[in-house]
Amino acid sequence: MIQFEYHNPARIIFGCGKVGAVGGLAQTYGHKALVVTSGSSQRTGLLPRVLALLGQAGVEQVVFDKVKANPLTTMVQEGAALAKREQCDLVIGLGGGSAMDAAKAVAFLAINDGDVTEYMFGAKQGTGALPVILITTTAGTGSEGNNIAVLTNPDSNDKKGLKSPFMYAKASIVDPELLMTLPKRSIAGPGLDALFHAMEAYVAKRSNPMSEMIALEAISLSAQYLPQVYAEPENIEAWEKVALANTLGGMAIDAAGTTLPHGLEHPVSGLLNAPHGEGLAALFVPIMKFTYRAVPAKYARIAGAMGESIAGLSVEKAAVKSIEAMETLLRRLNMTPKLGDFGVREENIDWLADNALKIMKANIENNPRVPTRDEIKEIYKNSL
Ligand SMILES: [Fe+2]
Repeated sequence: MIQFEYHNPARIIFGCGKVGAVGGLAQTYGHKALVVTSGSSQRTGLLPRVLALLGQAGVEQVVFDKVKANPLTTMVQEGAALAKREQCDLVIGLGGGSAMDAAKAVAFLAINDGDVTEYMFGAKQGTGALPVILITTTAGTGSEGNNIAVLTNPDSNDKKGLKSPFMYAKASIVDPELLMTLPKRSIAGPGLDALFHAMEAYVAKRSNPMSEMIALEAISLSAQYLPQVYAEPENIEAWEKVALANTLGGMAIDAAGTTLPHGLEHPVSGLLNAPHGEGLAALFVPIMKFTYRAVPAKYARIAGAMGESIAGLSVEKAAVKSIEAMETLLRRLNMTPKLGDFGVREENIDWLADNALKIMKANIENNPRVPTRDEIKEIYKNSL
């Protein structure tokens, strides 16, 4: 029996040059925008360009440029206070996943008082959010396609998603031209994050026919075109496909959630500020090996989507091909880190396992095979 609900109201405006639409879009949703971004958008010239477009459209602007990788709860509360003080009626997130997640959280907290952690852990639900426009400059989190903002509490190192039906962007601009100047490391790590979103969503217990269709297309596009943009960053047709895969990956986890890789990675980047996609890359193959026998037919389809020849193979053998395909892809992207590269030591493993089970329990239980605490420790050890 098939039963599911699917709802994703994010308005996606996709195409080269579409960043030029930001002024008109902003006019539709507000008069005074808080632009949430990091320092790099000033250096690349994108922030001045967006501010000029907003100015031409008669939209006032306030800039909040304190976003850093793995955005903090304290930082978004500071941004929300600024939005309230300046009486902004619109939030624009400009940048990668961190800037977009921060923008969504700022828009939510500008309406909902109190400590953000109460909303993250479900003690409070919230009643609304300021309208949000997102402009993505990386292909990674797919934040433009969902209502999730991942935040880290600097007091506890807890890293967790704030998710609210009010946090879908009113409009998300996905302009592949903006991705073309990314440094190689910002192509491979975030690009893999997008692929991992799609793969986790595809095998997730909470997946449904819609999310599976979206996820499988994202897997296919990422596996084929991520190595292409890595080798030829000027290939705009390949960038279009990678950008599309990224947004689809974000939409897939919106519906189905992430699973064990994100469940075990968040504690690593929460504790040691590891780059999210790279932390996932260190954990992903050991977790595929742990998981694939629970849903071999799904892993067999992943192998096929990644371009492996699976005709005539048993389901089990075809499923193993997905692991081989992943190992090959990681090597092609020079992305074969170990957790030790981010400072993880054997003595951290108990804390990581406990934190994963405390903070990321729902993601871990969304995995087709749910590990015990000892099995989680074993996966961390195998990834050191
Ligand atoms: Fe992610």
